[in-house]
Amino acid sequence: MIQECIICLQLYLSYIMEKTVLITGGSSGIGYEMSLLFARDGYRILWVSKPPEELSMAKQKITAVYPDLNISTLAKDLSRISAAKEVYEWAAEFGKIDVLVNSAGFGSYGKFTETPLEKDLAMISLNITNLYQMTRLFLVDMEKRNDGKIMNISSSASYFPLPNAAVYAATKAFVRHMSNALHLELKSRNSKVQITTICPGAILNTGFQEAANMQNVRTFSSGLASATPQEVAKDAYNGLLAGKKIVHTGWKFRLNYWVTKITPSFITNSLLVREMERTS
Ligand SMILES: NC(=O)c1ccc[n+]([C@@H]2O[C@H](COP(=O)([O-])OP(=O)(O)OC[C@H]3O[C@@H](n4cnc5c(N)ncnc54)[C@H](OP(=O)(O)O)[C@@H]3O)[C@@H](O)[C@H]2O)c1
Repeated sequence: MIQECIICLQLYLSYIMEKTVLITGGSSGIGYEMSLLFARDGYRILWVSKPPEELSMAKQKITAVYPDLNISTLAKDLSRISAAKEVYEWAAEFGKIDVLVNSAGFGSYGKFTETPLEKDLAMISLNITNLYQMTRLFLVDMEKRNDGKIMNISSSASYFPLPNAAVYAATKAFVRHMSNALHLELKSRNSKVQITTICPGAILNTGFQEAANMQNVRTFSSGLASATPQEVAKDAYNGLLAGKKIVHTGWKFRLNYWVTKITPSFITNSLLVREMERTS
């Protein structure tokens, strides 16, 4: 009897002490790679992505690596205006959210007036409106507890006017500016809540290229600022734990970031045009 009580107590303690991370877009790309790192460190994981089939396939994949992983999923189109509130209400069933990772996002490639309008509007809604709403909703609880971390995925694109991806780059500039300002705001209030912005260059082998219609776009093959999803996830995760304001992931993009700072803009701009062209 006493032994059973001790086991129950241990289970209860591990339940209340377990940390929870909510990752949008966790079922693929860098969201998935980051999930592997959170799982390794004993987090309970909540995933929100769009198609239920992909979520369940990704869940099978990650539980094959971490069989004891406590993971729950929600299939939701986050580009809908009401989605963030619905996710927040669903997440409340699991208690406090220690870390929020806003990774869901996509791009749109093509001439400004020729990309599908509906796609661009959904992209603006997901990359900007949903990320803003999610950050705001979860931040309120984190500020009340004076504890918690938010990771927002921006992009190297946030620094450059990208020909053929003008709107995508602009959405990522919004993410970086909003998140960096919020970081300073929280710091000035001596808050222990932390917000970290991640800026990756081109990431190879995620669903991004196809979803953005960026197949054969030079920036993915030129290797000037590319990195693997594993490299990006590792840098992002370590940056989050270190409490950084901003993380430029992958050594190639870090190098590029500094080189472009001292390069005249007419050179950078002509390089950008070349990098954003299709090779075939
Ligand atoms: N790949 C790059 O070169 C690159 C570079 C810099 C920044 N980023 C950013 O990194 C983030 C992750 O991209 P990734 O490369 O890992 O691409 P990815 O493999 O396509 O992952 C994107 C995730 O977002 C989810 N998603 C897309 N639309 C959604 C919607 N309407 N509702 C809910 N979930 C949705 C996708 O879920 P489903 O597949 O289930 O729809 C997927 O899980 C994005 O914000 C992207 O902008 C990517």
